[in-house]
Amino acid sequence: METGVAETFRNGIVLITGSTGFLGKILTEKLLRSCPVKNIVVLVRRKKELNASQRVAKIYQQTLFDRIRHEKPDFIKSIKIIEGNLEESALGLSLNDHNWMIENVNFVFHCAATIKFNETLELASKINIQGTEHLLALASKMKNLKGFVHVSTAYSHCPRKEIKEEYYTVPVTVTELKNMLVDNVPTPKIIEDWPNTYTFTKAVAENMILTNENCLPISIFRPSIIGCTKSEPEPGWLENMNGPTGLISGVMVGFLRTAPNIGTNITDIIPADYTVNALISVMWDTVNRHKQSNGVNKVPKIYNYVSCVESPLTWGRYIREMHDQYYVAPPLQSMWYGFYILYSNLMVGSILRFILHRIPGAFMDLILVLCCKSPKMLRMYAKTECMVDLLYEFSIKQWKFDNENTRQLWLSLSKDDRNMFQFSLKSFDWKSYIESYYYGIRKHILHEDLSNVEEALSKNNKLLRLHQLCVVLVMFITFHLCWMFMNYLF
Ligand SMILES: NC(=O)c1ccc[n+]([C@@H]2O[C@H](COP(=O)([O-])OP(=O)(O)OC[C@H]3O[C@@H](n4cnc5c(N)ncnc54)[C@H](OP(=O)(O)O)[C@@H]3O)[C@@H](O)[C@H]2O)c1
Repeated sequence: METGVAETFRNGIVLITGSTGFLGKILTEKLLRSCPVKNIVVLVRRKKELNASQRVAKIYQQTLFDRIRHEKPDFIKSIKIIEGNLEESALGLSLNDHNWMIENVNFVFHCAATIKFNETLELASKINIQGTEHLLALASKMKNLKGFVHVSTAYSHCPRKEIKEEYYTVPVTVTELKNMLVDNVPTPKIIEDWPNTYTFTKAVAENMILTNENCLPISIFRPSIIGCTKSEPEPGWLENMNGPTGLISGVMVGFLRTAPNIGTNITDIIPADYTVNALISVMWDTVNRHKQSNGVNKVPKIYNYVSCVESPLTWGRYIREMHDQYYVAPPLQSMWYGFYILYSNLMVGSILRFILHRIPGAFMDLILVLCCKSPKMLRMYAKTECMVDLLYEFSIKQWKFDNENTRQLWLSLSKDDRNMFQFSLKSFDWKSYIESYYYGIRKHILHEDLSNVEEALSKNNKLLRLHQLCVVLVMFITFHLCWMFMNYLF
């Protein structure tokens, strides 16, 4: 069955940047499976000793592509690989590839970005701003371009409290930023109220698109926090430890034992497959809008894709329901019983980190050294705590989002399109989603399948007893020390 949205892509050539990333892979798979595209062109950089083709060949062996492999065994033939790098001038394209794209590409999904919160401003600007600038320049030369969707983030303007589907001012223009970087102006002075270089560079890139000097048929898509897939191509697929996934994985294996108390705050997770469906629908809308405007330059439309408006999920519920699954199928590789103590005061947090992370970490490192292995636990704790701190900013702050354009887009889809490109989060079933999320982490991050549950439960029981013994021991020692102290005083 092909639908209005799918039909837009008939015989079209679609360029995807960031196709080797989390979102880009799911987008590639869905377009190949559900839309009658002629070719998908992926712009991929070489990395380490692998060139673009070798990297792509490895990626399409992943389980994410099992379904399409089954439904369209020769899907790889529809993919054209082009080596390029957003950091390089003219995207590092060969003349041949550059000219081929100008002649052939019809649709551009720009997903590539560095999403590291603590990236240097220089590199984040190079990839997220200059990379986008070069791609826009290339797109403006494309002879048959029908649509361009730039993937930004719902948090590009996170210093604000209310985020509508609008453009907001940024402290610098692209040219000013380039000059500041040349003059070595300190990053905090440049990014002002932005908490990290990622969101800042995304905001500057959005404003560069606003001018739309090239009259491109372009839109901006702003997703919030992308979680695992809800159902397509399989439930619970994910591949990174970003944000809430990292936090839960750490607790599941008994590594992370204390975290900030953010229970009543909203965590704006959205399922990855729904995000891709919304993104494809935004392309459909963009193409239609441009057709209707007869190519007249219009302000590019923005679509916020968030869950908090229609189906808010709290951190408390997310963590609690994950934990419910933990009791049913804990991971076998747990290093300790999965427990956590939440703190509301940062000073208390530092003490808890010292007792629950640093002391056991140092003890385990000592054992590793005694076994002639390199110590790693303290280093891992430092890295994880840094990640939790970066996430903290986004967990304590709450935003009022508006997603009217996205909701209107959903309403404008036909019944068939809604079935094929489901993305409405109205009355979303978080319970089953969180369950899939838990088993997705277990399978794709921890690489454990359900055949080991019995063994894992038995190990977990032993770990629980050991944990209880330690709690009693710590309580006893604390009580004893207090008693000695009181005796000393009186
Ligand atoms: N994940 C989320 O929760 C989330 C939320 C909101 C918005 N977004 C946005 O969604 C988009 C995709 O995010 P993601 O989660 O898929 O990120 P990701 O997994 O880190 O993927 C990033 C992609 O960008 C590519 N890339 C980075 N630098 C490049 C360069 N210099 N040249 C060419 N390609 C480059 C990466 O290629 P390599 O494989 O070569 O590194 C990778 O394919 C980003 O624009 C991000 O801002 C993501």
